[in-house]
Amino acid sequence: MKVLIATEKPFAPVAVSGIREVVEKAGYELALLEKYTEKQQLLDAVADADALIIRSDKVDEAVFAAAKQLKIVVRAGAGYDNIDLAAATAHNVVAMNTPGQNANAVAELVMGLLVYAVRNFYNGKSGTELKGKTLGLLAFGNVGRNVARIAKGFGMNIQAYDAFCSAEAIEAAGVKSVPSREELFATSDVVSLHIPATPETVKSINGPLVKTMKKGAILLNTARKEVIDEETLLAALAEREDLKYITDIKPDADAQFAAQFPDRYFATPKKMGAQTAEANINAGIAAANQIVGYLKEGITKFQVNK
Ligand code: 3PG
Repeated sequence: MKVLIATEKPFAPVAVSGIREVVEKAGYELALLEKYTEKQQLLDAVADADALIIRSDKVDEAVFAAAKQLKIVVRAGAGYDNIDLAAATAHNVVAMNTPGQNANAVAELVMGLLVYAVRNFYNGKSGTELKGKTLGLLAFGNVGRNVARIAKGFGMNIQAYDAFCSAEAIEAAGVKSVPSREELFATSDVVSLHIPATPETVKSINGPLVKTMKKGAILLNTARKEVIDEETLLAALAEREDLKYITDIKPDADAQFAAQFPDRYFATPKKMGAQTAEANINAGIAAANQIVGYLKEGITKFQVNK
């Protein structure tokens, strides 16, 4: 059996070693395709792979068609919007994610970006503090929960809205539950996005919603660029000169945002949320274990194309 790691943005070497250990202990072979620049390289590499570990790498019909032996693909991470699930099912491939494994890394970056934003991108001018400010979490999954845990240490007031999580579950974590997304935006000093990219959420964060935010508010995106309606967000930022947009995922209109709002917009050069040794180890090794568990024992616990 051959397990291929195909990562355009590579794991830390220590994570690759950990994956190798799991794979070889199971009696399988490990192949590595990192920093590839052409889709064809991925298509060639998957030709004889039985299992595939990816990150944000796009796995579409063409990849499944080229991967004649593929039985399982595991997205080492949370969001699996980069996998064509219907194509996976059509090709009899099990698709999985590794939920929660990189959540702390993303949550720590949220706080790092927030400090950077309220201190005016470290430009020397007087900024503000996070203590006593209201942090609104849009979705209360693994990342949202970790952000809440850390933000409590900053003395922030934390509130959350999640369409799929009950008010009781949110309150049980010591976080105020608000009844709607609209209320979350209108009553938070910072709104941090932790929603996946789905047909329902794509372009759901738009200018009219952002314009309801409090004076001096910050919109923080460590989720997906697709959830933003860029055109109306640009218009909202132009109209509301007090708002900031901070993101770990460069928008398509990055150049325009940067040119128009140099003091109120920041995007990391490359998505950094899950880019820690610990997150790479946790997610990568979980992916390897899930592959072994599926191939040897048929365990499908984290399957997402059921
Ligand atoms: C996730 O969905 O797990 C994160 O967005 C991390 O993505 P990455 O593995 O491409 O850094």
